[in-house]
Amino acid sequence: MALAIPLFFLLISTCKAIDPCPSESDGSELSIHHIYGKCSPFSLPKPASWFDTVLGMAAKDPSRVIYLSNLIGRKTSVPIAPGQVIQTGNYVLRAKLGTPGQLMFMVMDTSSDNAWVPCTGCSRCSATMFSPTSSSTYQSLDCNIAQCTQVNGQACTAAAGPCVFNQSYGGDSSFSAILVLDSLRLALDVIPNYAFGCINAIAGRNIPPQGLLGLGRGPMSLFSQTGPLYKGTFSYCLPSFKSYYFSGNLRLGPAGQPVNIRTTPLLQNPHRPSLYYLNLTGINVGRNPVVIPPELLAFNPTTGAGTIIDSGTVISRFVLPVYVAVRDEYRSHLNGTVSSLGAFDTCFDSTLNPVPPTVTLRFTGMDLILPVENTLIHSSATSLECLTMAAAPNNVNSVLNVIANLQQQNLRIFFDLPNSRLGIARELCN
Ligand SMILES: *[C@@H]1O[C@H](CO)[C@@H](O)[C@H](O)[C@H]1NC(C)=O
Ligand SMILES: *[C@@H]1O[C@H](CO)[C@@H](O)[C@H](O)[C@H]1NC(C)=O
Ligand SMILES: *[C@@H]1O[C@H](CO)[C@@H](O)[C@H](O)[C@H]1NC(C)=O
Repeated sequence: MALAIPLFFLLISTCKAIDPCPSESDGSELSIHHIYGKCSPFSLPKPASWFDTVLGMAAKDPSRVIYLSNLIGRKTSVPIAPGQVIQTGNYVLRAKLGTPGQLMFMVMDTSSDNAWVPCTGCSRCSATMFSPTSSSTYQSLDCNIAQCTQVNGQACTAAAGPCVFNQSYGGDSSFSAILVLDSLRLALDVIPNYAFGCINAIAGRNIPPQGLLGLGRGPMSLFSQTGPLYKGTFSYCLPSFKSYYFSGNLRLGPAGQPVNIRTTPLLQNPHRPSLYYLNLTGINVGRNPVVIPPELLAFNPTTGAGTIIDSGTVISRFVLPVYVAVRDEYRSHLNGTVSSLGAFDTCFDSTLNPVPPTVTLRFTGMDLILPVENTLIHSSATSLECLTMAAAPNNVNSVLNVIANLQQQNLRIFFDLPNSRLGIARELCN
């Protein structure tokens, strides 16, 4: 008898997404959850040490940064060390697909355009899949449809038939999908005829189990497909990594967006239209500007060089000479010895350093003074504190700096695509 209840839930879980914390959606605002937080179906039991959780997650950054860099260089993929742990993206949101809506916890990714979900019959996908036959509004698209030429990845080897495409994701993974149309429900908004990939096979371990929603800038992204509904405007506030119980939010459309906010121009790279490039012009540690040759920060659409803001990388990564300069300046402010812990190479005794220096990211028109919790992580076991930044992995295309999640916690990040600008303001969202 004791076995009967768990089995019953197991049967349900193979067809429907479990909603660990159902919450009311409000207008065009969705809650976003840390992938390992309590309200994510991928939640771990409350981690004993969030420091170790962050260390584990940051260990997966290099494959993402290489992936983002390769998207620009259009080079063949760089081999990734075997034994890669699963990389599912960092934040999930609740979306419903089809009519009636089927709940999916999709990863939010600001560096991707397409949306995609595993569909019934997918081989090697998770148990929760979208069922096209249960939706009255589902339609598949053919190769000769304009959207089929806009999906990233190899689409349609034959001239006719369904729009089949194969896309790589996250470094060492890929999926094959067909392009389909169905209703997408986000909070209280219904977007009819949304084009997304219906996955029929996956390879590798980095494909988010319940799919992904691309918030990039390219032609297939949410904002390109919704036009006047959201007017290319959105903002998010990412919850603190420490807040297992809390969620942040994604606000879609112009309503309720910050008005008085400092902004910096968004730069566009025609070779990689989905990425959000910013003009990072300098970095200060305390009051001191770090000496960085300007060409190491300069935006170059041809090589892909420059700085992007990304929702899928855990700690900010700078090209090696930039990181070394920042780290050396940071270390020069510290008392006592410096040690390494996992991805972090600048850890120090917090008792000897009660007033660690602030780090300021200087963008055209906007200085972002990082809050302490967005700069340092405190080890749970010792009095060590570590600078949460690192060098980008050293590979052929290592020209890209990435402003990552940990540096974006508890800030309102506002994307205004019609005016090509990005604003940042302090906000406690958890
Ligand atoms: C996608 O294409 C690549 C290269 O042809 C192949 O290795 C991979 O297995 C394909 N992925 C899927 C899921 O079919
Ligand atoms: C970035 O800022 C630097 C310094 O102000 C400026 O020289 C450069 O033209 C800017 N780059 C772009 C692409 O706006
Ligand atoms: C280093 O120690 C000195 C003397 O105790 C103190 O004034 C200073 O604030 C410390 N540095 C940091 C980064 O806390």
